[in-house]
Amino acid sequence: MSAENLAYALVQLVHNFGAASVVGGAVFARWPMPQPREVQRALAWLVLAAWIAQIASGVSFAAVSRHFYGALPDIHAVARAALAVKVAAAVLGLATAAWLAGRGERAGEAGRVLAWRMLAACGVIALAAAAVLRWFS
Ligand code: HEM
Repeated sequence: MSAENLAYALVQLVHNFGAASVVGGAVFARWPMPQPREVQRALAWLVLAAWIAQIASGVSFAAVSRHFYGALPDIHAVARAALAVKVAAAVLGLATAAWLAGRGERAGEAGRVLAWRMLAACGVIALAAAAVLRWFS
C-alpha cells in the first residue's frame, strides 16, 4: 500500500461524505416536506460544516499532488472549467450556509426558503461538475 494512494483515499473519503452532506442536508431540509425550525437550524450547521469540509478536502487533493509529484496535475481545459464551476459553487455555498446558520433565525421564512434553494442548487451544480472533472482530467 503506497502512502500516496492512502493519502488520496483519505481525502476522497472526506470529500465524498461532504458531497453527500451538502446535497442531502439541503434537500432534506425542505423536501419532501419542510422540516421543523429546530431541525432546519441543526441542518444549517451540518451543511455549513460540510461545505468547509468540501473546500478543505478539495484543496487537499492539490496539496497531496504537490507533495508527491511536486506539481499540480496538468488537466484538460474542460476539466479546468469544471473545477472553476465547483470552486464558484463552493464559495457561494459556504457564504449561504454561513448566513443561514448565523442569521437564518432572524430572517423571514422567505429568506430561509431562498437560502435552502440556493444551497441545494450549489450542491447539485458542484456534483454535476465533479463528474465532468473526473472524466476530463
Ligand atoms: C473548492 C472546492 C472543490 C475543489 C477544489 C474540488 C476538487 C476536487 C478534485 C481535485 C477532485 C479529484 C478529481 C479526479 O478524481 O480526477 C474532486 C473529486 C470529487 N469532487 Fe470535488 N472539489 C470541490 C468541491 C466539491 C463539491 C462542492 C462537491 C459536491 C457537492 C464535490 C464533489 C466531488 C466528487 C463526488 C468527486 C469524486 C468524483 C469521482 O471520482 O467520480 N467537490 N474534487
